[in-house]
Amino acid sequence: MIRKIDHVGIAVKNLEEATATYKALGFEVEEIEEVEEQKVRVAMLPVGESRIELLEATSDDSAIAKFIAGRGEGIHHIAINVENIEEALKKAKDAGLKLIDEKPRIGAGGKKVAFVHPKSTHGVLLEFVEG
Ligand code: CO
Repeated sequence: MIRKIDHVGIAVKNLEEATATYKALGFEVEEIEEVEEQKVRVAMLPVGESRIELLEATSDDSAIAKFIAGRGEGIHHIAINVENIEEALKKAKDAGLKLIDEKPRIGAGGKKVAFVHPKSTHGVLLEFVEG
């Protein structure tokens, strides 16, 4: 049911600067996309079967803007690719974990995603991604 690390999300202040840095390191930028619902612009950089997801806020009330204001740039979340996101959420809920999303929403790439609260996962914001 758990397949792989789908991506590691990194909060950045400026997407162009961040992608330039990663390109200089040898990464390729697969795509840049705006996810309006989450008020972010996202760049995906393939790393084998996983990716690095660079996230830039498009609004001051975006979760990414708040994260950077409080903690600076850095690793924001780890995304786990699962076969069935409803099942993964049920399992987490049954285990008594605190969910940010009781139901999946649409994230980058049009995929179903849902977040588990870092208070329940030893300080790491966990994202489930289906498919
Ligand atoms: Co993500």
